[in-house]
Amino acid sequence: MSETLTVPETVILEVFRYRPEVESEPTFDSFEVPFHPEWMILDALNYIKDDLDGSLSYRWACRMGVCGSCGMLANGQPVLTCATYLESLLPGPIRIEPLEGFPVIRDLVGDIGDFMNKLSDVKAWLIRDEEKPVEDGEYLQTPSQLDDYKQYSMCINCMLCYSACPVYRLEPEFIGPAAIALAQRYNLDSRDEGAEERMDVLSQHDGIWGCTLVGECTEVCPKGVDPAGAIQRYKVSATMDYFKSLLMPRSSS
Ligand code: FES
Repeated sequence: MSETLTVPETVILEVFRYRPEVESEPTFDSFEVPFHPEWMILDALNYIKDDLDGSLSYRWACRMGVCGSCGMLANGQPVLTCATYLESLLPGPIRIEPLEGFPVIRDLVGDIGDFMNKLSDVKAWLIRDEEKPVEDGEYLQTPSQLDDYKQYSMCINCMLCYSACPVYRLEPEFIGPAAIALAQRYNLDSRDEGAEERMDVLSQHDGIWGCTLVGECTEVCPKGVDPAGAIQRYKVSATMDYFKSLLMPRSSS
C-alpha cells in the first residue's frame, strides 16, 4: 500500500533582519509563505519581497546556481538559496540567516569586501612573464591540460566555504578555501606563469598553513570544487619546493 505524503499549504520562514537605521541589534521576522514542491528557498524570499515586505534585502541574480550571489544559512547550513528546495527543510519553521563570517550590512546582505581583497592577494588571474603578440594566435591547450585545472575553475565565488570554515571564523586573516582553490586553478593552468608570486602569499602563516583540515569547505561546496583537496595539494608542492631549495639553492649571481 503506498503511503500518502502530507503536503503543507504553507511554511513559516524565520528571516534574519537587520536595518541599521532603525535597530541596533538584529531580530528575526516570521513570514508564512505558500508551499509549492517546486519552490526553492529563493522563491519563498522573492514571495516575501513581492507580497509581504518589500523592505527585505538579499542578493541574487541568476537563479540557476551560476552567479554565486544567493548564498545564505538555511537552518544553520550554508546553501545556495536558488538551488535548495523548501521541501528539503520541511516541516519548518525554516530559519534563514546571512552567511556566517561576513559583517552584515543589512538583513541577509553581507559585506564581501574581505573575500574580494583575498582574490586580489592571491592574484586569481592568468599571469604571463611576457604576452605573445596577438598575431601569434591563441594559447592552445590539450584536453588533458584543461583537465588539470577544470575542477577548480568551477568555483562560483559563492563563499559558502568561508561561512563553513571554522578557521576563517576565528582568524579572518586566513586566506581561506575559495581563494586558495582559485590560486590552484591558475597555477595548474598551462598558460600561467604566476605560481611563484602566488606562493609568496600562500606560504605565509595565514595562507595554506592556516588550514587545519576540517574539510567543511568541501562538504558545502555546491560545485564539487574540493577546496580542502586544493589546499592539501598546495601544501605538498610547497613542502617539495622547500626541500628542493635546500638541495639545490638558487645561485645568488
Ligand atoms: Fe545565482 Fe543563486 S542566484 S547562484
